Amino acid sequence: MSNSPLLDELSLRALTGLRQTPKRLPSMYFYDDEGSRLFQRIMCLPGYYLTEAEREILAHQWPKLLDAFTPDGRPFELIELGSGDGSKTLELCAAFDKTGVDFSYVPVDISPHALGSLLRAFDQRLPGLRVQARTGDYFSGWRQPGNGQRQIVMFMGSNLGNMPLDEARAFLNQIRSHMQEGDGLLLGLDLMKNPHTLLAAYNDPEGVTAAFNLNLLRRLNRELGMNFKLDRFSHYACYSPLDGTARSFLVSLDKQTVRSTRVDLQFQFEPGETIYTEQSQKYSPAMIRQLAQDSGFAPKLHLQDGQGRYCVSFWQAIKPEMVRHMVPNASQA
Ligand code: AVI
Repeated sequence: MSNSPLLDELSLRALTGLRQTPKRLPSMYFYDDEGSRLFQRIMCLPGYYLTEAEREILAHQWPKLLDAFTPDGRPFELIELGSGDGSKTLELCAAFDKTGVDFSYVPVDISPHALGSLLRAFDQRLPGLRVQARTGDYFSGWRQPGNGQRQIVMFMGSNLGNMPLDEARAFLNQIRSHMQEGDGLLLGLDLMKNPHTLLAAYNDPEGVTAAFNLNLLRRLNRELGMNFKLDRFSHYACYSPLDGTARSFLVSLDKQTVRSTRVDLQFQFEPGETIYTEQSQKYSPAMIRQLAQDSGFAPKLHLQDGQGRYCVSFWQAIKPEMVRHMVPNASQA
């Protein structure tokens, strides 16, 4: 790989993962155009309850959120990390806007295309709302708002769950390091539940999640000149109630060798050998409290959907020295 200086970071990570034992691929690699389209379809599947549950919480319980964001009615800035096209947040902003509260919306996303759609949709529906879109990575363009406005950071859609717990903790600490005491963090998190329900969310009979998973190989073929035969791999998903993690794999159906025309590498697969492609962490309320505490926040609000499948959790940034004095459970709403 050292002879391929033109490989982007994600491709390098993909190739590095394929050289490990067991083999793995970064789940960030899912989201090329086709992968993003397939994910849109997953979000509409009957078994993939996460999107609907989050939407239900925001649609029915937004007044509690607004009250937590600005108990004194002060203006605030709502920053959404990974906003995509903003379609899920548009309804929330519309509900806030109707109350006359003074706030601005800062969507941050890697995709200029998604942000373009977002700006058009917001301009049409909420022409009076201040929207300042930022393209690129989450942290480089971060700035403090003027007039001591409170910042509320949103990271929704159970995206935190795609990070292993250590990485999630580091990411939350990084967010905290950009915030002032009293600022807020809103997270959409999937909860531990009946393993059958969870497995069905990642193993739909329609085969959309399988297509989403296999699309990784199509992307590797296209971008790295590899010769994966997609019909010689199959999707496998499992959920372990022991650690609350749903995991996805691609399974090689034969002994096979895959080569790349762009890099001087080849990969051997044994029959039944797997590539680990994604983890989706599910949380218990105790894990959520612990994560907040480990990253400098106090949990203030824990909102669940009617069936108790999913939660939207609101945390407040606290003084680092306060973390040590936090009594477990005391701040659970
Ligand atoms: C984006 N992310 C939160 C989804 C999840 O549930 O982990 C991605 C996904 N993978 C398979 N289905 C959905």
